[in-house]
Amino acid sequence: MYPFENGPLLGALAAAAKSKRLLEVGCGLGYSGLWLAYGAGSRGQVQTIDANREHAKIARDHFKREGLDKRIDVLVGEAARVLPALKDGYDLIYFDIDPAESLTVLKHSERLLGRGGLLVSANLFLGQFAPDIPGLEKTAEYRLRILDTARWLTGYMADGTAISVRV
Ligand SMILES: C[S@@+](CC[C@H](N)C(=O)[O-])C[C@H]1O[C@@H](n2cnc3c(N)ncnc32)[C@H](O)[C@@H]1O
Repeated sequence: MYPFENGPLLGALAAAAKSKRLLEVGCGLGYSGLWLAYGAGSRGQVQTIDANREHAKIARDHFKREGLDKRIDVLVGEAARVLPALKDGYDLIYFDIDPAESLTVLKHSERLLGRGGLLVSANLFLGQFAPDIPGLEKTAEYRLRILDTARWLTGYMADGTAISVRV
């Protein structure tokens, strides 16, 4: 929810991948969305999903304050309901919601990303800090699936973020 060191990394990835269509699953208060939009530049368009209306409102205020509101659309709703309606052709997807929904998000990420598209996954070892959080077994399955080399080329970072390229 709050500024963290991966913000600039997200911006750098969005810029390096020359991302034009970006999707964030888990908008929160908009910090990572701002970095994605900033990194993607003026030709990038970010869509960001959040089920929480209050978070969405605060995030929209942040986007407006930074002058990036035209480049970031907030889609309010449960990821499992919003994702099926999206069309493929994204260049970058950032996954940052509850573990219980992780496999649903992964399934749609495989559909929505083109070859060479980037999937950035946060909190893949959240269980070390929150062992009782529901859905950790799904995160475990997610960690294995992004190591399937027929679908993904994945590098893990020390903080539990993974960067995967769709192959
Ligand atoms: C960790 S925060 C996102 C932080 C944000 N990406 C950032 O770094 O600035 C997770 C957000 O996902 C939302 N969320 C959790 N489960 C969700 C779901 N199933 N569908 C949509 N949004 C969800 C929460 O409301 C929360 O705002």
